[in-house]
Amino acid sequence: MYQTVIVIDFGGQYSQLIARRIRENHVYCEVLPWKTPLSEIAAKNPLGIVLSGGPDSVYAVGAPYTDERIFSLGVPVLGICYGAQLMVKELGGKVEAAESEGAREYGRTETIFSEGCPLFSGVPGRSVTWMSHGDYVSALPKGFSVCAQTEHCPAAGFQAPSRRLYGLQFHPEVRHTEYGAQILRNFLMEICGAAGDWDLSDFSERTIRQIREKVGDKRVLLALSGGVDSSVASVLLSRAIGRQLSCVYVDHGLMRKNESETICRYFGSLDMDFHMADAKDRFLRALSGVSEPEEKRHIIGREFINVFKEEAAAIGGADFLAQGTIYPDIIESGQTGGQVIKSHHNVGGLPEEIGFTEIIEPLRMLFKDEVRALGRQLGVPEEIVSRQPFPGPGLGIRVIGEVTEEKLETVREADALFREVIAKFGLAGRIDQYFAVLTDMRTVGVMGDARTYSRTVALRAVCTDDFMTADFARIPYEALEEASRRIINEVSGVNRVVYDISSKPPATVEME
Ligand code: XMP
Repeated sequence: MYQTVIVIDFGGQYSQLIARRIRENHVYCEVLPWKTPLSEIAAKNPLGIVLSGGPDSVYAVGAPYTDERIFSLGVPVLGICYGAQLMVKELGGKVEAAESEGAREYGRTETIFSEGCPLFSGVPGRSVTWMSHGDYVSALPKGFSVCAQTEHCPAAGFQAPSRRLYGLQFHPEVRHTEYGAQILRNFLMEICGAAGDWDLSDFSERTIRQIREKVGDKRVLLALSGGVDSSVASVLLSRAIGRQLSCVYVDHGLMRKNESETICRYFGSLDMDFHMADAKDRFLRALSGVSEPEEKRHIIGREFINVFKEEAAAIGGADFLAQGTIYPDIIESGQTGGQVIKSHHNVGGLPEEIGFTEIIEPLRMLFKDEVRALGRQLGVPEEIVSRQPFPGPGLGIRVIGEVTEEKLETVREADALFREVIAKFGLAGRIDQYFAVLTDMRTVGVMGDARTYSRTVALRAVCTDDFMTADFARIPYEALEEASRRIINEVSGVNRVVYDISSKPPATVEME
């Protein structure tokens, strides 16, 4: 197994980010909830332990804690923010609430680093860190010394090098900390002595072996949505078990332009039992006359399960259901360990509905960027691997109000043109999700000498880290102008284009 660093999650917003930053250094890491017994942590034979930040004060009633023996395992420990304060409290130091507003620190803060601390090797004497704390460390435990400070924080960094214990009041995992990546790298490489042995090609070989052992001569069924996760999972499975894998792709007719064709062409060419269920008419019929968003979502989800069940029965069922669950799904559901069913519209509820007893989730320990990298290694085409997020109900929720074939065609064309313009202006890498929506508004326009009374297309483009919050993308006017001009000229039935400038919250990314 790989050298493993454990991140203990105290409920901080950045726990997942810490884990990703560690993996970026080719060091394998797992996130464990703070309640995990020490014996379970020790059984992982960790190379190092990181205690994450958290929303509480260490003295608050019910605040998360850790077994203090974690500091005597002989394993290097890095406490970050709450984790650092917890280390101080458990080892006999003192944490206090900052009395005045000024003593609390939020955001970019100039920090002074001492020379000689291995955590800061290669870090200049002064640089900016990202702070977010109300409490501060007022007295260090015996054997600790200060190695970083700020104007208001006398112990922004502290260490007990002989015990390999380190604490940081700031967040090295956040990009705003100028030398944060260097500090984490120092912890992993210099202090823990990590070899950087986490490697995706090795991962895929191991996983292929494990899948073969688990499946034996049985059959596996996978619901392929065409998204990154289920696509990469299916390619990995097909490498492992070839035609023992059946993939079912339900074409609900709510995909973007050319998307179904790409999926069918690529997966049809692989050594797997690939089935495309053409259910376009069925979905359109079920959606006919329905304009309420939740009802549309419900209908699409229900029809999906029905079609998938019928297909599964037609191919004689299978012993295992495979899913493209990835590590953030597991961390976010609060269940690090145990099996999690991805709560995705497309596959949510499938195992219960279909009565599978065994589930295979070959990507359950990978982050999204690792899934994409693995996909590239496995030769999955770039248009699938770099695909932006697309909701399970598809264009069904990007046509506001009732969905008809004609409206789907309109939004599909407008969306394709918008994507072309984004690519032409080189904006794709800077925007996390962008698409067109067909609103239910009609307005008056003039084309040539004639009055028009046609539909309005809304363009949406957002920048986000996690899709929980999002900001509208600052697209250059020239790009918006070209998108607007092309959509109005080339898509019939559209005479107006607007750009959505709302952020999430209070708006959401999708309009329905
Ligand atoms: P909202 O609209 O909730 O979207 O701000 C956040 C992200 O989730 C995607 N989304 C979905 N994805 N099934 C999915 O798989 C769904 O039902 C669904 N609804 C929204 C949305 O595209 C955005 O990336």
